[in-house]
Amino acid sequence: MKPILRVYKNKHALTQAVTAQIVRILTSSCRARGRALLCLSGGSSPIDVYQTLALPEFSRKVPWDKVHFFWGDERCVSPDDPESNYKNAADALLNFIPADPEKIHRIKGELPPKEAALDYQKVLQDFSFGPLPWPGFDLVILGMGEDGHTASLFPGAQDPDEDLLPVLSVSARYKNRPADRITLTPMVFNSARNLIFLVSGEAKAAAVRQVFSSRQDLPLLPAQRILPRKGKVFWQLDSAAAKYLQV
Ligand code: 6PG
Repeated sequence: MKPILRVYKNKHALTQAVTAQIVRILTSSCRARGRALLCLSGGSSPIDVYQTLALPEFSRKVPWDKVHFFWGDERCVSPDDPESNYKNAADALLNFIPADPEKIHRIKGELPPKEAALDYQKVLQDFSFGPLPWPGFDLVILGMGEDGHTASLFPGAQDPDEDLLPVLSVSARYKNRPADRITLTPMVFNSARNLIFLVSGEAKAAAVRQVFSSRQDLPLLPAQRILPRKGKVFWQLDSAAAKYLQV
């Protein structure tokens, strides 16, 4: 499906709109299927949204006991490390809502990377979706790096055989963040019903322009590989990130 692009005047407006959108998607998934499968992103971009979602005005609308939490990627660190994507989501959201601990399916970044990837692959299998050994997430939230990476799918040649696995362990340098990571692969993201790219700030504007240019460069722009077959993909941007787009 063609990406749906929305631009907000600033980060605050973006945060409010995306938080309300998450509430709508979670509540309608719970109504329709009795549960919601939510896959969270790491990085700094979603923190404001997580904190806003934890506020009573939003939080009370969501049947949290029916929501399953997953992550699109994790850094290979322990769950109490400040670089842990799980910890960041817990500190901003999970610790403030009545989530069911049995429905929090974190990636075990403390295990050796290959083991953590296999462990997560098994977790996903328990939620398999028709013939596919992974879930069709009701909602995936993703960020994007200044280099066009998303989750831990980084620019550069990838082993095509690895693309056939739902979970990979990878190693890539980005800023001062941990290099060893576990990530879901595009085929898993592309099975989602809804996917939100949450991107803000001028530093991302050039990468946003490249993603939306007519030129496809899948190895160098991993974000372009995320295009759900049937689901919807929303690019939710502030005006700084959308600076070079004609909208
Ligand atoms: C991670 C991520 C990664 C992140 C981007 C953007 O674990 O680092 O999931 O893909 O979303 O690097 O990061 P910022 O939101 O901090 O710019």
